[in-house]
Amino acid sequence: MVFPEYRPRRLRQNAQIRRMVRETHLSVDDLILPVFAVSGKKVKNPILSMPGHYQMSVDHLIKTAETAKELGIPAIIVFGIPDKKDPLGTQAYAKDGIVQRAVQSIKNHVSDLLVITDVCLCQYTDHGHCGMVDKKEIHNDATLELLAKTALSHAKAGADMVAPSDMMDGRVAEIREMLDEEGFSNIPIMSYAVKYCSSFYGPFRQAADSAPQFGDRRTYQMDPANALEAIREATMDVEEGADIIMVKPAMAYLDIISKIRDEIDLPIAAYQVSGEFSMIKAAAEKGWLNEEQVMIESLIAIKRAGADMILTYFAMDIAKYLGKK
Ligand code: PBG
Repeated sequence: MVFPEYRPRRLRQNAQIRRMVRETHLSVDDLILPVFAVSGKKVKNPILSMPGHYQMSVDHLIKTAETAKELGIPAIIVFGIPDKKDPLGTQAYAKDGIVQRAVQSIKNHVSDLLVITDVCLCQYTDHGHCGMVDKKEIHNDATLELLAKTALSHAKAGADMVAPSDMMDGRVAEIREMLDEEGFSNIPIMSYAVKYCSSFYGPFRQAADSAPQFGDRRTYQMDPANALEAIREATMDVEEGADIIMVKPAMAYLDIISKIRDEIDLPIAAYQVSGEFSMIKAAAEKGWLNEEQVMIESLIAIKRAGADMILTYFAMDIAKYLGKK
């Protein structure tokens, strides 16, 4: 490959050639749309830091789910914002909790759309942590049963897949066991296996009202400086029975997605989190970036790194873009 015999520009000279040699493609099949459920009727509260996203009551969620399906998006992931919080996050696993009600209604009204649920306690606990708290410490083993109960209640409500995002050790095994015992051996677990303690979750915590009331999540979410640990976390979750391994956030962790792709032979999901979305939106609003182009470039980069699917707040926009392309 020496100039002038080899000229890389030969394969870039027009759109047709570029299309032929393109290595990575975005498809609507890759997309998972996150949505936020609240109780009430006709509620559609804008999330100010995430333009185009809302806390929605079930009636609106059904419409959004329908639109997502019509655009060809295969799956949504539901986050709940409960009416009341308590130390044990009981609304996370209540039969009539917000996620359980939302899932039930969406499944009743919209067919052929996969409904995934986020399994965590932080939106439901008054201290805002993802696990049980005693004397300001987050207790791992005591939390596992609550997470498994939450996953089971989601499955009973009709969820097609559960996605634990709490980062307690051993929760995938506990959830798998509970689901299997209760007759839900067909429900896959998408594990937030490699979830960093990231400041890019800021807008989400506003949207879901889930910021920790004391301390931070450093004792359970991963240190952004670590990569080998990501392989250990993912390997552990594979052994515990995870079906899909997630890396989160995405853009600042492309090296991790790539490493996990090399090490793990399960499907890999990447979460382009709220802060990644909000940064692009804010810069676009100021006229500093071209929103559509940056959105596509960021998602292509995540796929190129090795992700098979992407949870993204851009899912609807990308689906529309791909539809008219
Ligand atoms: C719940 C959870 C969080 C996100 C997904 N599930 C917040 C957190 O861990 O603090 C973040 C999603 C986003 O920022 O878009 N544990």
